[in-house]
Amino acid sequence: MDRSKKIKWGIIGCGNIAHKFASDLSIIEDAELYAVASRSIEKAKDFQIKHSAKKSYSSYDQLMEDEEIDIVYIATPHISHAALSIKAMEHNKHVLCEKPLAINKKETIEIIATSKRNHKFFMEALWTRFNPSFVAIKKMIDDGVIGDIKYINADFSFKTDKPLNSRVLNLELGGGAILDIGIYPAFLTYSLLGIPDEILAKSIFHDITKCDMQTSMIFHYPNAQAVLYSSFASKSDMTAKISGTDGQIHISDPWHVPQGFSLIKNHKKEYFDLPTTGIGFSHEIMECHYCIRKNQIESKIWSHQNSLDLISILDKVREQVGLKYPT
Ligand SMILES: NC(=O)c1ccc[n+]([C@@H]2O[C@H](COP(=O)([O-])OP(=O)(O)OC[C@H]3O[C@@H](n4cnc5c(N)ncnc54)[C@H](OP(=O)(O)O)[C@@H]3O)[C@@H](O)[C@H]2O)c1
Repeated sequence: MDRSKKIKWGIIGCGNIAHKFASDLSIIEDAELYAVASRSIEKAKDFQIKHSAKKSYSSYDQLMEDEEIDIVYIATPHISHAALSIKAMEHNKHVLCEKPLAINKKETIEIIATSKRNHKFFMEALWTRFNPSFVAIKKMIDDGVIGDIKYINADFSFKTDKPLNSRVLNLELGGGAILDIGIYPAFLTYSLLGIPDEILAKSIFHDITKCDMQTSMIFHYPNAQAVLYSSFASKSDMTAKISGTDGQIHISDPWHVPQGFSLIKNHKKEYFDLPTTGIGFSHEIMECHYCIRKNQIESKIWSHQNSLDLISILDKVREQVGLKYPT
């Protein structure tokens, strides 16, 4: 791709996260928010004005047909991620799709096959992987600074005030804590320790919608364990602790978008101040641009295989707790 040309983005779904993403897109020099699509033309127009997009569409299909767009950011409920990603790639567009990229492993395999068949870049928007603090933590651990990891503890829990039909609580839209927020502690552990040998998990379900409201997970490895938690029922610490044979790393609230972290070693605590650029989406956006300009269909940092592994882990958690989606 011509380096002097800006990369033109289209956004599908004008909800909560799409607004935050668009705000970070505006600080990326070689990015242009070209078009936005909503199921409602008023919503699309409001979004267009707020974020200075060139065009707005009242249907996702119209945006898919726009040949000017290089890459689509999908910010709709989980249940629609796979179908929209596949459709966008079949319309000759690269894709950055919000997490979780799909409901299960089967859908993920179809997404990856579509990316390969059409030679289109696809990445799951696992923004924490590109966060400067997380990148530094992973390097420190890979360099052996805290020795061998023996224990990880991370939670992601807050009290939701969303209505029963919201994407968060509605099973028809992929609701439930595991896929929405449990994905973060699972991601942290997978990124540092790989695929667990064994997973134990238990959930408490919503009385009416039957989505999982809170889920506790143990990931067991030959030489390490992780105790993880996600919930919509109450606020927790939202911290992550990584304990190694030679030290510890603590990430404070909200650990999934850290602005720094602490290393505790030899009875000393050292704080590393590593703020994000913008809200934190800028880092994954820059990775998309890097890969597209290099003609890569996947990121080497958060690859297709990484997404496949993570969703397979979440499939196992759901199997353990007995959570199935109607689709
Ligand atoms: N990376 C992060 O930190 C982060 C944070 C929050 C959420 N997310 C992910 O982003 C995705 C969207 O989350 P969100 O919090 O932005 O949700 P949201 O505020 O509910 O927005 C989702 C948007 O999807 C569109 N949509 C399409 N079909 C829909 C349906 N049947 N019901 C409801 N909305 C529908 C709507 O846009 P239109 O009405 O404009 O068509 C809606 O505004 C989720 O998959 C979530 O996991 C990521």
